[in-house]
Amino acid sequence: MIEVEGVSKSFGPTKALVDVDMSVPIGTIQGLLGPNGAGKTTLVRILATLLAPDAGRARIAGIDVRQDPNTVRSLIGLAGQYAAVDETLTGRENLVMVGRLYRLASPLAKTRAEEALERLGLVEAADRPVKTYSGGMRRRLDLGASLVGRPRVLILDEPTTGLDPRTRLDMWAFIRDLVAQGTTVLLTTQYLEEADQLADHIVVIDRGKVIAAGTSDELKSRLGSDLIEVEVAESDLDRTTAVLSDVGCGKATIDEVRARITIPVCDPVPDLMAALRVLDKAGITPKDLGLRRPSLDDVFLALTGRTTGDEDSDAPPTTGRRSRQRAGTPA
Ligand SMILES: Nc1ncnc2c1ncn2[C@@H]1O[C@H](COP(=O)(O)OP(=O)(O)O)[C@@H](O)[C@H]1O
Ligand SMILES: [Mg+2]
Repeated sequence: MIEVEGVSKSFGPTKALVDVDMSVPIGTIQGLLGPNGAGKTTLVRILATLLAPDAGRARIAGIDVRQDPNTVRSLIGLAGQYAAVDETLTGRENLVMVGRLYRLASPLAKTRAEEALERLGLVEAADRPVKTYSGGMRRRLDLGASLVGRPRVLILDEPTTGLDPRTRLDMWAFIRDLVAQGTTVLLTTQYLEEADQLADHIVVIDRGKVIAAGTSDELKSRLGSDLIEVEVAESDLDRTTAVLSDVGCGKATIDEVRARITIPVCDPVPDLMAALRVLDKAGITPKDLGLRRPSLDDVFLALTGRTTGDEDSDAPPTTGRRSRQRAGTPA
């Protein structure tokens, strides 16, 4: 439903997109995951016919975005990163106006507006001017506006950035619902968890380049094994590291700031039990202990050497507490 082949775009010296490929099957959610400035919105604008690529091509339902932008626009709905609604109109008026811009007859525009208000839980607020709406309500209204034209492809640019957790969950449920009804969704996000929860397939971009692609599980399994994570009192860290040295099947990572040891394991349950036995024998009670799959955060860190939240890769931690130097720790 969405095909992107070798798309590049520069703004002066900034390479916003470099040879990007992506292919989205009908009725699926494609996650486009990357930190701020990765090039997500640039790709969204190209697909929405708002920006021409320097090279490569993009098609929606087989239609080239540059050759036939009008048809492409009739197929897509776009909810941008910043809610684009008229402050002085009511929620209902905004939606009806969008319907009229889609050249729907007035009664149909009203019906569609009503449907969108209901689906997005905005019926009670429908006749209030948008300037009285909260951020979450605006974002929902904007999403509603992108649905009035019944698009086959919905492009959502960071739909939940800045939303509270409750509204984010509602938004997720809503997006799943649309996809169950056959809509194809391209969703950009900086939240690993969001891509993990929603996307059938994920493309990870960083500095304009695709650095990984696959399902969430595929991306995680690139890291291989599950992990045991043990958090102890700071005074127990060295002893814990020593007694756990034979557990697991790879090199342990020691986070001295959080007093946390992460050990890759190949036989998760027996290894976890072995860890418990040696800890118990040594009289160490961890503050926290668990077995977990690698998260997309681990994947992103492994791929880029940075977490998605890091703008500056080598900025010092701001938490005040400094890492201990292992060499200087008395035995
Ligand atoms: N119109 C523009 N003019 C100049 N630079 C731009 C423009 N749009 C985007 N950029 C730059 O291109 C890069 C990618 O931006 P963008 O696609 O907005 O990233 P994202 O949406 O992933 O945060 C950034 O370095 C950004 O500053
Ligand atoms: Mg953006």
